[in-house]
Amino acid sequence: MKLLVLNGPNLNMLGIREPAIYGKATYANLVHMIEDYARERGFEVECCQSNHEGALVDKIQQAYFDGVDGIVFNPGAYTHTSIALLDALKAVGIPCVEVHISDVSQREDFRQTSYIRQACKASVIGRGLEGYIDAIDILLQK
Ligand code: DQA
Repeated sequence: MKLLVLNGPNLNMLGIREPAIYGKATYANLVHMIEDYARERGFEVECCQSNHEGALVDKIQQAYFDGVDGIVFNPGAYTHTSIALLDALKAVGIPCVEVHISDVSQREDFRQTSYIRQACKASVIGRGLEGYIDAIDILLQK
């Protein structure tokens, strides 16, 4: 089982950006937590973050050619704007679980739309960094 954990813009700023909303743990802490979990549960994982929409599209396409079995995806603000990311997920057909650290359902109106949601098998919202583990568990169950 080979998973890709993909994070979009500003998620490299975890620990610095709005800690009251996103917490004090850093992006490096998140990657360590996921890598530890992968060792424990015996799956292969690549963690990747980009601030650029096209780079995220490239990574999703590459996942297809690399034989990735599942994608955990927090597209950050591109969640609410990007048809290109939706199309990329539809193009590759790899099972994807959407993650949001904060509870976007309780935030601004502009965060209520998720373009990628229709290409995802589940969404994990407002569970902090634990949400990434929940999303991985959903993909491991298949
Ligand atoms: C986020 C929520 C988005 O609305 C925001 O733009 C982010 C992070 C989350 O993880 O809660 O960058 O995806």
